[in-house]
Amino acid sequence: MAPNVNSLMGDFAAVISNVDLNATFSNHEFEVIHNAVDAHGVAVFRDQFLEDDALVAFAERFGPMETPLARDQYGGIDKRITMLANVSDNGQVMAVDDEHAIFMKGNLLWHSDSSYKPVPCTYSILAAHEVPASGGETEFADARACYDDWQGPFGETEKDELEDLVCEHSIIYSRSLISGDIFSDEEKAAFSTPRQPLVRVHPRTGRKVYYVGSHCSHVIGWPLEKGRALVRELTGFCIRPECVYSHKWHPGDVVIWDNRSVLHRGRTYDPTARRIMHRATVAGDGPLLPA
Ligand code: OGA
Ligand code: MN
Repeated sequence: MAPNVNSLMGDFAAVISNVDLNATFSNHEFEVIHNAVDAHGVAVFRDQFLEDDALVAFAERFGPMETPLARDQYGGIDKRITMLANVSDNGQVMAVDDEHAIFMKGNLLWHSDSSYKPVPCTYSILAAHEVPASGGETEFADARACYDDWQGPFGETEKDELEDLVCEHSIIYSRSLISGDIFSDEEKAAFSTPRQPLVRVHPRTGRKVYYVGSHCSHVIGWPLEKGRALVRELTGFCIRPECVYSHKWHPGDVVIWDNRSVLHRGRTYDPTARRIMHRATVAGDGPLLPA
């Protein structure tokens, strides 16, 4: 049986049904899913109740998994799974001033996962276990439409002059915007500040995006504030409401998104409500720029 693909917003976001991600499915079924994710940037699967083994197996159909930061493995069962949970190992909801809760606030800013790593990831797959009754949505913005529709200019700079710009990405920078100066000297020393192209081209679809979001700090070779203003302009254009899909979670949902095509962010919720999500992240196959 072939999976059904129903678009939610034209060529952006889809619901894929008639597939059981807990079962092994054929290469043909996988190709239908892979193509649908590439075409839509985000895809939703309902009622999957995906356990970690099946989450890992599904992710590995796309390629080898990325290893999360040690902080993201919090409570982790499998070191390759990123935990997005406000529930501690002892089963209790964390205090809002818990160190991990403060670290996770970074997800409230629009971003592309792991753009601050020298080899950024491709797909992220998030499985919902426990969700708050209201709030806690995840929002996705179509960065492909942003590239296609933003016409510039930015000040004196025309759109076509942005094509070869290079930006510095940093999680120390992005977390400083919302969580404060949270990293130890040891952690800071371990982070690099990779250079990423401002325009990222999707290798399977050929579509381009402005590769911005919270980790994107500034433009190499431009005055710092001018570069930050450009990043704000492009991120702001990307997230205009008609280009945003807001996912209201139900337990059992699985959402996959392509970090080469969309920006995303989490929304706040009642901090006394429980929210437990497990993420598998597919590794990129190399740096985006030549050394
Ligand atoms: C993520 C993320 C937001 C959320 O899993 O990468 O940013 O809503 N999640 O939990
Ligand atoms: Mn994220």
